[in-house]
Amino acid sequence: MESRLITFVVLCLSVAVTARSDSYYSNTKPANPNEEKVTRIQFYLHDILSGQNPSAVRIAHANLTGSADSPVGFGSLFVMDDPLTVGPEKDSKEIGNGRGMYVSGSKDMSKFTIVMYADLAFTEGKFNGSSISVFSRNPVAEEAGEREIAIVGGRGKFRMARGFVKIKTHQIDMKTGDAVLRYDATVYHY
Ligand SMILES: *[C@@H]1O[C@H](CO)[C@@H](O)[C@H](O)[C@H]1NC(C)=O
Ligand SMILES: *[C@@H]1O[C@H](CO)[C@@H](O)[C@H](O)[C@H]1NC(C)=O
Repeated sequence: MESRLITFVVLCLSVAVTARSDSYYSNTKPANPNEEKVTRIQFYLHDILSGQNPSAVRIAHANLTGSADSPVGFGSLFVMDDPLTVGPEKDSKEIGNGRGMYVSGSKDMSKFTIVMYADLAFTEGKFNGSSISVFSRNPVAEEAGEREIAIVGGRGKFRMARGFVKIKTHQIDMKTGDAVLRYDATVYHY
């Protein structure tokens, strides 16, 4: 009885091995055995275009639509290295920086929209060295409600992240374009 069982097991194993050797795919396994977690992160992003030490600068614009009196005309491209702070004040504790670029992407300037490609990295606390990547339309003109941008990835503890950020304008100077924005991120990660 026992030997017959062993023979059966050996037979099964050899069939399994044979089957594997001529298949062109691996076994399908759960990609992420860990449970997905969620973290909420709140901070302020300071996007300062004016003065001698701006955190965002225009690096290109379309000759047709970009001019001195309208630096954010359709087709204007900016690079940013914006500080992220705990509170809205300029001297509030810095917890990271947002680096990347944004482009003025709406032909209809009454619906002023930027499209952002940025890496928001943290330099303090549990998430020091980690970052979230945003790649999204940001309808700045929609002042009435909160606007939302997409989180499409991340680094470090936020590897493979996804999620969204609700953005509210805390303060904006229409003349210079300087803005302080409240970011409220919901990050799904492993
Ligand atoms: C840019 O626009 C100005 C007038 O708005 C024009 O004089 C100039 O030739 C244009 N430059 C190019 C490279 O098209
Ligand atoms: C954050 O991480 C960097 C690099 O590992 C380290 O040099 C720095 O001291 C850390 N900062 C804090 C506040 O822990």
